[in-house]
Amino acid sequence: MIYITGDCHGDYERFKSDIFFECNEMTKDDYVIICGDFGLWNESKEQDERLDWLESRPYTTLWVDGNHENYDLLNTYKTEMWHGGKVHFIRPSVIHLQRGQIFEIQGKTFFTFGGASSHDISGGILEPHDPDFFEQLEKARRQPRPFRINHVSWWKEELPSEDEMEEGRSNLKKVNHKVDYIVTHCASSSIQAILSFGMYQRDMLTDYLEEIKNMVEYQVWFFGHYHDNKKITNQDILLYEQIIRIL
Ligand SMILES: [Fe+2]
Repeated sequence: MIYITGDCHGDYERFKSDIFFECNEMTKDDYVIICGDFGLWNESKEQDERLDWLESRPYTTLWVDGNHENYDLLNTYKTEMWHGGKVHFIRPSVIHLQRGQIFEIQGKTFFTFGGASSHDISGGILEPHDPDFFEQLEKARRQPRPFRINHVSWWKEELPSEDEMEEGRSNLKKVNHKVDYIVTHCASSSIQAILSFGMYQRDMLTDYLEEIKNMVEYQVWFFGHYHDNKKITNQDILLYEQIIRIL
């Protein structure tokens, strides 16, 4: 069995057995995939407990990264190979699927590419090492627009590097640009324009995903980020709290 869902932001309530009762039939060879904003934040006792609880679930949790992950922490985990692609093992059965990879799971192929531009930064990104940081912080708190702090609540790695994008292209070439599923956090430029009625700006990642969309033959593309559950086209599905079975 493979299930898939959208952004969690560290809240795994939806996976409790009385809500996600299907999990009672699952084993560690069954999977639940999270389309980004998994919720890997600062190291803490609470975070460890949340991750241990996920590890105690009867299935294996897989996730691509979103824009709200602590990339400094994520990059301290060792890169390992799993089912044909690069991963970080956060726990033995809580696994981060890296960008530009192709995984073979239960006979199906999955192309994964996490990351997205944060939309909640109109109040700016503060630099904690700036000499007037505390003045800026006070000012930011007084104004109504959301702001973030570099390396505390925002990381530039929310957007991909050239190497990650190139690795994705090269891995897709090896499978003749054909996969069963695509799992991302962000949508491609054209899908984002449809779902937001033109409100969200395109950027280098949505444009890269548009290139992928035009180049790759796929059955279904699942993504999160926009906090809604919606079928955008027959092949492009936006997920939030809903958990759906794909296999
Ligand atoms: Fe989110």
